[in-house]
Amino acid sequence: MKHWLSDMLPFRRDPLNFMLAVGKRAKGPVERTYLGPTPIWMVTDPELVKSVLKAPEEEIDKGRLVYKLRKVLGISSLSLSGEEHRRRRGVLHSAFARGVANQYVPEMTAIVRRFILQLMQLKSFDAHEMTSRLSLRLVSAVMFGKDVLQEADEEVIVQAVARVEDDLSDEMFRVLPLMPWEQLRRARERKAARAVMGAVVQRVRGRSPEGSVVKSLEALNLSDEDLSDEILTMIVAGHHTTGNASAWLLYHLSVVPGLKDKIAAEAMALQDESGEISAYKLPQASVSLAAVKETLRLYPSAHWFARDAKCDQEIGGQKVSKGDTVLIPTWLYHRSPAYWDRPNEFDLSRDFTSKAFLPFGAGARACTGMGLAILELQLMAIEFSVATEIRVLSQVPAPQPKSAITLLPPPIELQVALAENIPQTRAAA
Ligand code: HEM
Repeated sequence: MKHWLSDMLPFRRDPLNFMLAVGKRAKGPVERTYLGPTPIWMVTDPELVKSVLKAPEEEIDKGRLVYKLRKVLGISSLSLSGEEHRRRRGVLHSAFARGVANQYVPEMTAIVRRFILQLMQLKSFDAHEMTSRLSLRLVSAVMFGKDVLQEADEEVIVQAVARVEDDLSDEMFRVLPLMPWEQLRRARERKAARAVMGAVVQRVRGRSPEGSVVKSLEALNLSDEDLSDEILTMIVAGHHTTGNASAWLLYHLSVVPGLKDKIAAEAMALQDESGEISAYKLPQASVSLAAVKETLRLYPSAHWFARDAKCDQEIGGQKVSKGDTVLIPTWLYHRSPAYWDRPNEFDLSRDFTSKAFLPFGAGARACTGMGLAILELQLMAIEFSVATEIRVLSQVPAPQPKSAITLLPPPIELQVALAENIPQTRAAA
């Protein structure tokens, strides 16, 4: 019989390889991992995942690992359940769904273009450091309205998230208590991060115009603190994930032979008389869409997520008890040779309707911002491909990402310059 801590060291040393190793050792679709006193059941077979994620919340629901995020984000639709969750999600879903998000395309395009000009003035830059700012600008334009979030606010949010991510990630599966002084330091960091981000939220709330997502949330009549937490969650969940994916997207645009040219040619073919692509044509831009999806397959920002069993039950032939954790290892599915040929290689021709493709989760708790996130990434892919040359100045292939609360890109030094041959018209493409 295994010891209840026998997986802890391999997990701590290398969480990404640990997920792959559990996938290999699994005898059935669900494998127990030994990461502490509470059993953690990893659903290793993606065929089973959707039924787990679609189970009624009386059986399986968000639980202890997600609740740990409340220390920073407060209580919001990310960790709530039941009627209150549905009420808030309804508002957010109608703001971010792909068709609805289309209205933001002109403003989002303008933001990406201004950002490209800024990057061109830099000798070089770290991909993630810059893309996290761009993603924050994009999600904020949608949440609060045009130009409401200012550069200093942006800096505060990005720095605050970076400051608490490592500590939170360390505490997710920690069984040994921290030394009292370390507990104190972390509590102080969190309090500071929450306070500075809360102050930004209050400032931008006041400046948000009618019609913005913030105003729709205000109509829910939440308490001041609840509303602030909900907005904070959207900003953090919305920019951090997309920022990670964007860094990898730029990396791929620079290292995958011919990728940028294919996306640029497709964009030119879809543009209208004014030289712009109508938002409604973006779903037809299959090359840029595939580039985004393949980036999310290789580097899913949410590389795992979790639920708790709310009653005793059987999952995939295993007896799972009330209170046990159920882990969904997206990283394992996305890198599994059983579902993907040459899983570690970038390939646009993959079938993204596969059950093993799950970057945004599934069911009633699937990502609220999915439509918006895909739109943002697709616009970035197009704008960078058409107007720029991107060079990687650091290691190729890039080193492993870091497993934290999200999947963080390693330092990747990039350089962006004006493309030598910017196509002028459809004919020119
Ligand atoms: C590439 C970008 C993104 C990725 C990969 C991503 C991934 C995910 C995943 C996997 C989940 C489900 C977690 C679970 O089931 O426990 C989720 C939930 C969520 N995401 Fe995203 N996300 C992204 C962008 C965004 C954006 C742009 C927003 C908002 C503006 C957002 C807001 C949320 C919220 C609020 C939830 C909780 C939904 C609920 O529980 O009802 N995400 N995300």
